Amino acid sequence: MKHVTWTLVCVACSASYPGDELRHRCECGGVLDVIHDFDAATAPIGLAAFDRRLGSREREDRSGVWRYRELVLPVAASDILCRGEGNTGLYYSPRVAEFTGVGDLCLKHEGENPTGSFKDRGMTVGVTMARLHRMDRVACASTGNTSASMASYAALAGMTAIVFIPEGKIAYGKLCQALAYGALTLQIPGDFDVSMKLVEEVCAEEGVYLLNSVNPFRIEGQKAIGFELLQDMKWEVPDWIVVPGGNLGNGSAIIKGLRELRDLELIDRLPRLAVIQAEGANPLYTAYTEGHDLTPMDDPDTLATAIKIGNPVSWRKSLRAIRETDGIVDQVSDEEILEAKAVVDAAGVGAEPASCATVAGIRSLVEKGIMDANSRVAAVLTGHLLKDPDIVVGYHTRKIEAMACGRANAPIQVEATASSVAAAIRKARPLGG
Ligand code: F0G
Repeated sequence: MKHVTWTLVCVACSASYPGDELRHRCECGGVLDVIHDFDAATAPIGLAAFDRRLGSREREDRSGVWRYRELVLPVAASDILCRGEGNTGLYYSPRVAEFTGVGDLCLKHEGENPTGSFKDRGMTVGVTMARLHRMDRVACASTGNTSASMASYAALAGMTAIVFIPEGKIAYGKLCQALAYGALTLQIPGDFDVSMKLVEEVCAEEGVYLLNSVNPFRIEGQKAIGFELLQDMKWEVPDWIVVPGGNLGNGSAIIKGLRELRDLELIDRLPRLAVIQAEGANPLYTAYTEGHDLTPMDDPDTLATAIKIGNPVSWRKSLRAIRETDGIVDQVSDEEILEAKAVVDAAGVGAEPASCATVAGIRSLVEKGIMDANSRVAAVLTGHLLKDPDIVVGYHTRKIEAMACGRANAPIQVEATASSVAAAIRKARPLGG
């Protein structure tokens, strides 16, 4: 690998390794950060250059990750494997804002990435790195989105993708993608945490490149959510950024990127980070509120299967980002998640359940008086509505156990006559009513 201007530094013990060393963890077992030497950049790093690239036709300028390549991974354009990821929509929906109680709310819809989730931002960097290391097999454990993303990028790179998924516990849309993109799909008995432990072990033994977010290059790509969000907001920093918390890579990635922007004096402050967990899969919430290190929880349980994780890999990075930004961790119930989802969906935006934990969390934080209703808030919607069609149909046909499904929009049975259809139309409630 040429011109490596970054090093790998352990988050737990600060040990440092060369940037081109093939490793995902420190000798002590801690996770690693990529630390850049921005002084080695070949051109000055500035916001105006990022803005200029918005009008470019070059592949690496058009990607919402590689547009910021000096901050992400300074490699040659010819080494980059990308699908034009990012460039996701920013939505201001009065209906969603009213539901949360925050007037100035925007939704950054990461479900609009090529494979339908924010994972593509990390994956383009992860697979680029795998190729630089000349690896031909990549693997991940996944609650679904990482596997969908990895399967696609690996196929494009001509690599074998091996995915470890918790048997029967991932949403249908995601399983479809892994199979369709040709990944070797292994269904592992047990939950995500079992698969995660196993994939690390197998990758180490078999020399397979690991592409979970324990891989620090995935995190470098995910930083671009924050860069693009700020660029969308004309480089004005919101008061809060809100993300759902599962394996806990994402929130910490966004703050790492913004911290680097601030250290380069390109922005003058950091937003506060709010991480929202599902009540049934809340190990970070417990650690944060009780003020201790994370203790893994057994049998995590939530309908938001993307974040059904009891032993998150990046908890240390996440707590660091929360403390550093005077942030917060909150939890919401499955019922709150699905009500928020019904509002996000009916607003025409639409997202998968885990994504909507953010909107439910904002409502909860405003109710508790932690988030000021007048603050400027950016919520990250992490996955596409079609990732989990079963839950959508279940909700709208009121088939979700022990839930009122108060905003259900059930299909109406009509006869094949104009009068029957006309009667149904006349009876219909007004849009959004
Ligand atoms: N939202 C969605 C839609 C996700 O797929 C995930 C994680 C998260 C939120 C949580 O992000 O892990 O960075 O805290 N999905 C992983 C996967 C675990 O395997 O697809 P995180």
